[in-house]
Amino acid sequence: MDLGKLLRNYREEEETFEEQHLASRDPLEQFRFWFQEALGCPGIQEPNAMCLATCTRDGKPSARMVLLKGFGPEGFRFFTNHESRKGRELAENPFASLVFYWEPLCRQVRIEGSVRRLPEQESLEYFHSRPRSRQISVLVSRQSSVIPDREYLRKRRAELEERYREQEVPKPEYWGGYILQPDLLEFWQGQTSRLHDRIVFRRLREGSAPPGDMTHAGEGEWVYERFSP
Ligand SMILES: Cc1cc2nc3c(=O)[nH]c(=O)nc-3n(C[C@H](O)[C@H](O)[C@H](O)COP(=O)(O)O)c2cc1C
Repeated sequence: MDLGKLLRNYREEEETFEEQHLASRDPLEQFRFWFQEALGCPGIQEPNAMCLATCTRDGKPSARMVLLKGFGPEGFRFFTNHESRKGRELAENPFASLVFYWEPLCRQVRIEGSVRRLPEQESLEYFHSRPRSRQISVLVSRQSSVIPDREYLRKRRAELEERYREQEVPKPEYWGGYILQPDLLEFWQGQTSRLHDRIVFRRLREGSAPPGDMTHAGEGEWVYERFSP
């Protein structure tokens, strides 16, 4: 297979993404703006699908898709099994990276930051807001563990449905939410010319220099720069 010939045309030069097109100097607001556009884009089935990369303590990375379940100034939320591979990696190394790719819009957003568990109450509320069959699925699956066959899952589901027929399904301790608090967001707009636009926001840390035209920015504030594609 010659994959070298698979070349997509992105946007034309006249639709460049320039600094004056930023919806806000706050990257969370800029994310909200692009996310709204992705939500309204007919070709995008799951705009909240994102790739989550985690890392072991000794630096071995792993990545998988998860669903974004909320975002705001405090960060980006997702839910999973704390005992899964990603859960174990986050317990030993609480830093992660997220990537969204909204193909019809030729847009990618990369996010990096530290991750902590959501308070138990928030996980409980979200768990009980989900359809009952999904609550049962969480009980059925000890995510990322080896199982003998598919039949094992079917039997376990039947047992658990019977056990909780007349009762509320309890949220297991091993399942809950996380929040990634960002310190970097990159907005990438693809261009047919391959001279893509990349605007990178970073939170100014003690000892890191602000860009030349943002010398007023203080520690903890967001600054942005254009990166070469
Ligand atoms: C579009 C999509 C969305 C997914 N959303 C979630 C999710 O929100 N939470 C989750 O635990 N797994 C989700 N998964 C499954 C994960 O990709 C993965 O298979 C699972 O979480 C186990 O990953 P791990 O063994 O690396 O921990 C999703 C998969 C896809 C393709």
